[in-house]
Amino acid sequence: TLAATADLVGAARANGTGVAALNVIQLEHAQGIVAAAEQVGRPVILQVSENALRYHGGDVATIAAALRSLASRSAAPVALHLDHATGFALCREAVEEGFGSFMIDASAEPYDRNLALTAEAAAWGHEHGAWVEAELGEVGGKGAHVSGARTDPAEAAAFVRDTGVDGLAVAIGSSHAMVDRTATLDLPLLAGIREAVPVPLVLHGSSGVPDDTIAAAVAAGITKVNVSTQLNAAMTGAIREALAAAPELVDPRKYLAPGRDAVRERAAHFLTLISKGPLT
Ligand code: G3H
Ligand code: ZN
Repeated sequence: TLAATADLVGAARANGTGVAALNVIQLEHAQGIVAAAEQVGRPVILQVSENALRYHGGDVATIAAALRSLASRSAAPVALHLDHATGFALCREAVEEGFGSFMIDASAEPYDRNLALTAEAAAWGHEHGAWVEAELGEVGGKGAHVSGARTDPAEAAAFVRDTGVDGLAVAIGSSHAMVDRTATLDLPLLAGIREAVPVPLVLHGSSGVPDDTIAAAVAAGITKVNVSTQLNAAMTGAIREALAAAPELVDPRKYLAPGRDAVRERAAHFLTLISKGPLT
């Protein structure tokens, strides 16, 4: 079923567990992730980044139609989220196409500009029933210009109060697109933010975080856990293997099917790691 992000995040928060938000680049990702959610009996947030939409020529309508259809046919609750939108226009378009939530990512902007953009997006989002995520501090790994500044608890509390945002991405040591899982998280900082901020917290760059640390972060108050690179590594590894084993291959289904299967397996792992309890 097509679920609202607000409901999945709210239920996870109420139950003291997490909800996995897994990134989709192409159809096989979405199919693999939804199959995994059904297999392990957990809800899932399918998220598509502004970058991934750009890869598809910015055609939000086509991607949204495919994901809505997959979600509504699924036995598991599946929500749709726009990830890392740098502009407000795309957030609007995504909500109009049936996404239940979006992240307005103005974390690279100075505080006042981040606040103004986020507040505007949150106000519009709430008028249209969307759950809105923003970021304060700057999770690394999005390019050389990223400061990697950590989130300050008092500033985060003021930011959430003044923007009305529903979820906050925090910079506590993770970094995007890490292939090695060697990130260390500042769990005392997370505890301080959790204490100061009333809304659900989001961990970005979770691929680089070891499993036990992800579990510790959820226990310490992270609710939405974003994973992308680990799924891509699994998919690409399986495709590479299939191509190497049969250099004469021409039919893409012969290597995309193992790629999709690898996504399903990896997604199932993260779904059970992040969400305790079935379909909550
Ligand atoms: O927003 C998406 C995530 O933060 C994914 O990061 O590719 O490092 O897992 P990752
Ligand atoms: Zn991210």
